[in-house]
Amino acid sequence: MRLNINGEDVDLEVDPDTPLLWVLRDHLSLTGTKFGCGIASCGACTVHIDGYPQRSCVYPVAAAEGTAITTIEGARSKAEEAVRAAWTELQVPQCGYCQSGQIMSAISLVRDVTAPTDEDIDAAMAGNLCRCMTYDRIRKAIKTAAQQMER
Ligand code: FES
Ligand code: FES
Repeated sequence: MRLNINGEDVDLEVDPDTPLLWVLRDHLSLTGTKFGCGIASCGACTVHIDGYPQRSCVYPVAAAEGTAITTIEGARSKAEEAVRAAWTELQVPQCGYCQSGQIMSAISLVRDVTAPTDEDIDAAMAGNLCRCMTYDRIRKAIKTAAQQMER
């Protein structure tokens, strides 16, 4: 099958039922996307499919054919720049394991919602868990990134 990943077409021979996460990590060495739970409950594996967050651990690779897949390695946009700068400024990560998933969800939120409220952030980020409890810094960083997007 042919996938479009981070703007490039990639030809692969894989079982169509293989979760996209395994294709990214094991076949393409795109290891920025993490495995946490494998059951769509933690968000560590979040990538964008056609610009929107999806849990790649439960997303069959066959369903990704014909879509634009973006991983943390290929996320380049104004929203990504704002999120990255805010994450760096506020030193959001602790162990870092959940952070690529957090960032992919945050990019989508900051791109689509002007001046997100706490409720907007809770709704958009609810599926991204952090066992280091960086939630306060994530919230602040999303608000900082959103302000940057308005400038
Ligand atoms: S690894 Fe996919 S949601 Fe946890
Ligand atoms: S920073 Fe450690 S799990 Fe989130």
